[in-house]
Amino acid sequence: MAARTLNNVDLETLVSLSKRRGFIFQSSEIYGGLGSVWDYGPVGVELKRNVKDLWWKAMVRDRDDIVGIDGAILMHPDVWVASGHVESFTDPLVECGNCNHRYREDKLEDDSCPNCGEKAFGPARQFNLMFETHAGAVQTEENVVYLRPETAQAMFVNFDNVQTTTRKKIPFGIAQQGKSFRNEITPGNFFFRTREFEQMEMEFFCEPGTDDDWFRFWIDFSLNWYKGLGLRADKVRERSLGNDERPHYAKASTDVEFMFPWGWDELETISNRTDHDLNAHAAKSGKKLEYFDQEKNEHYVPYVVEPAMGADRSSLAFLADAYDEEGEGKEQRVVLRFHPDVAPFQVAVLPLSRNEKLVPKAREVYDIVRPLFNTQYDDAQSIGRRYRRQDEIGTPLCVTVDFETVESDDAVTIRNRDSMEQVRVPVSGLVAAISDQVAQMRKDAVG
Ligand code: GAP
Repeated sequence: MAARTLNNVDLETLVSLSKRRGFIFQSSEIYGGLGSVWDYGPVGVELKRNVKDLWWKAMVRDRDDIVGIDGAILMHPDVWVASGHVESFTDPLVECGNCNHRYREDKLEDDSCPNCGEKAFGPARQFNLMFETHAGAVQTEENVVYLRPETAQAMFVNFDNVQTTTRKKIPFGIAQQGKSFRNEITPGNFFFRTREFEQMEMEFFCEPGTDDDWFRFWIDFSLNWYKGLGLRADKVRERSLGNDERPHYAKASTDVEFMFPWGWDELETISNRTDHDLNAHAAKSGKKLEYFDQEKNEHYVPYVVEPAMGADRSSLAFLADAYDEEGEGKEQRVVLRFHPDVAPFQVAVLPLSRNEKLVPKAREVYDIVRPLFNTQYDDAQSIGRRYRRQDEIGTPLCVTVDFETVESDDAVTIRNRDSMEQVRVPVSGLVAAISDQVAQMRKDAVG
């Protein structure tokens, strides 16, 4: 396989593949679309679900020291006062006096407007990114609620509930996945920065003084998680954030960055949030949010280290990293080289044609494979086109049922996405053969 370049795909190619193959569609497309909001199609939803499930397994199910919750999107408005979001979750907004386009001042390269070129920006004003709505039938100042801009706060305000019901000893973490909303001034780069997105966050509560070590631990954990699922090591790096870049609550923050089609950019932020949030909620609510250390016989407010990932942004990184083109002319193909656990489908079952003998046999094979691997059945169009389609959605293995299968050997052909090698295996040994090939592809993906 030829070595792939770092920046191996441009954004337009990815956008068009995503639409063509059912990864991502623009939201409300038939109405002209809604800016920076995207819908996952039948293939994309499988990719994102895999990303979320793999994170949940690594973070919660495989660990004794982390538990999950699923908090509501709407929270008491005082949560956002205490957390500092009402006051400080803002970006500096400037408007061009000539064409009225609006920009985030800190993302502009110079003082000329990227749209019209004029130097006519007015003064910057702080723009709060939280979406507001009202709870109840009357719209008054008193019943304003916010769509959460991060999932983290549900973990802080539930600290006591979770600790007392699970009896977890510190250090322990609370993890959650779910939608967050930000009225971004300049969203863009496909579904990299959107106004509605899904986060995967974990708040790790630890004893003050141990926080710097845990901060390092969770940076390494994240880097290894991405690389272990096949993101190429030279496309992932860490970058420590300077004082002017850190969120208002953090003592230290490090971004995990990925080489996106437009260059290095943030995939995830790991922050040391100290005791900022628990103290702020205790002060605002009047409820103590402390931990009692039985061995030391003392109360203290834990520090918090937070790895905060985006499920969408991670899916975009896996998609961009997987993209590959090889061959020339008629032999040319686009292939997504996903790690087999990330791939939307692991197996496709394909009868050679829609022949009446082949289809029932292919359905029988499909029923054998489907309970064990995420499998797609496809009998539309020629077999060549169907291989091409499966390559373009990154399906590791295609199982083909042909006339020999039904007439003589009760065997099928397994075609490997990466090597394109085909092997003939008896239907009785199919599950074992698929398992072997998937295991080998897992190894190759992190090689
Ligand atoms: N609780 C901390 C927090 O929310 P953040 O760095 O603002 O930290 C964490 O967000 C992650 O959430 C980001 O690294 C990114 O993956 C994702 N994210 C944030 N804003 C996003 C947006 N507008 N669109 C898509 N993903 C976003």
